[in-house]
Amino acid sequence: MKIAIIGAGYVGLVSAAVFSKLGHKVCVVEKNKDRVANLKAGKAPFYEPNLPELLKEATKSGKLSVTDDYAQAIPNAEVIFICVGTPMLANGEPDLSYVFGAAKDIAHHIKNYCVVVDKSTVPVGTTEKVKKIIADATKLDFDVASCPEFLREGSAIENTLNPDRIVIGTDSKRARDILLEVHGKLPGERVTTDIRTAEIIKYASNAFLATKISFINEIANLCDEVGANVDDVAVGMGLDPRIGKAFLKAGIGYGGSCFPKDTKALHHMALSKDYNFKLLRAVIEVNGSQRRKFMGTIRNKLGDLNEKNIGVLGLAFKNNTDDVRESAALDIISWLTKEGAKVKGYDPEAMPNAKKALPALTTVNKAEDVAVDADAILILTEWSKFVDLNWAEMRRKVKNPVILDGRNLLNSVKMRKLGFKYYSVGRP
Ligand code: NAD
Ligand code: UGA
Repeated sequence: MKIAIIGAGYVGLVSAAVFSKLGHKVCVVEKNKDRVANLKAGKAPFYEPNLPELLKEATKSGKLSVTDDYAQAIPNAEVIFICVGTPMLANGEPDLSYVFGAAKDIAHHIKNYCVVVDKSTVPVGTTEKVKKIIADATKLDFDVASCPEFLREGSAIENTLNPDRIVIGTDSKRARDILLEVHGKLPGERVTTDIRTAEIIKYASNAFLATKISFINEIANLCDEVGANVDDVAVGMGLDPRIGKAFLKAGIGYGGSCFPKDTKALHHMALSKDYNFKLLRAVIEVNGSQRRKFMGTIRNKLGDLNEKNIGVLGLAFKNNTDDVRESAALDIISWLTKEGAKVKGYDPEAMPNAKKALPALTTVNKAEDVAVDADAILILTEWSKFVDLNWAEMRRKVKNPVILDGRNLLNSVKMRKLGFKYYSVGRP
């Protein structure tokens, strides 16, 4: 099939690479000309495991092309996926201007029947507004649908090739059949539903995962009070298949471009209907207080932070990505800097983006170097490679042997044996 993808971000590019691999002919439209030029030169705009290889393969086979020109991609497309950003506005609502902008551009370029699919995460009712925008601009026949995306950064290709489910929300049988065909060879259960239900499935899924994280963080805080170990609690709970072990890792709370934005958007959506979503409000509040609690632990263990040397391992919002949007690490570093601390940071992939967000941040090229003269080492992102650092050598380099592990990544017994004073979240 001929597919157009609007937006060469995480969702757009990963979808484009995977749809091309399935044999479809895909054209990506991206407004950012630099991004288009880089993609044409074979350069992926962000770090995502296996994406460059898949993009190269798709381009070489002639199945994938990239352009900044809607006229090149839209007229022939049978299916058009809108994959543009929906960033958070100051009041917690998502900014839908990119989605509506894309809809207007699509409307001016369609030439035949097509299905316009919203893959961006949008409040209930948005896909219907997209339909109206297009219908107001053209007399041509078209359908709309909502197919929310569930990939995780860091494992996006794997998630898209092996989805747990594919949600197809549309009121048109023709569109549903076309979308079933588009996803045809992929595994995963198909959930076919109406548009509004599909839109809310996405928010409900992210909000539920965020709830698991805030819940385990509250249990961790209680474990600190009663002298129990939250990691073992999570294992003991998670083995019950009704609970499941995923997303029960306690720490400094969730970040990233989606959970913070989507929980607030859902809360806002509820309020707009005069519904007070108490549980969700608590999830959001707990996530904020979890970072602040960790800051309190840092102050408690180190005292006055002015002129203290702090080594930070991890800048990205999670492991296996270079994305620093809503990163808890950057929040904590900004606070440390305000307190007068001197921070040296390291991340395997996210240092360039972290420097763009915090230009004054000092970074080092080797993880072990954050230890030089450090009054404390903080672990703020769950990169598994931090486990295997030469911690004995780092122990020799530090001024004070203190580790504050905000991700419960390291083995406390091993670290204490090396002579570190080791503190984590909800573990004795
Ligand atoms: P992103 O910011 O990485 O990329 C969006 C791209 O769209 C940018 O390159 C931007 O230049 C481009 N763009 C904006 N307006 C355009 C237009 N009118 N025409 C062409 N290009 C345009 O965004 P993302 O992270 O891929 O997220 C996209 C949507 O998918 C969001 O709603 C997000 O919540 C949702 N989502 C994201 C993820 C994720 O892991 N990042 C996962 C699931 C769902
Ligand atoms: C999340 C969802 O997992 C995806 O299914 C969804 O498609 C995506 O949001 C989206 O809508 O954009 P992502 O933000 O890429 O994916 O990353 P996650 O792996 O979910 O992690 C989110 C945050 O939660 C990270 O800061 C991570 O460190 C934190 N986290 C995750 C925990 O603190 N504990 C956990 O047990 C799991």
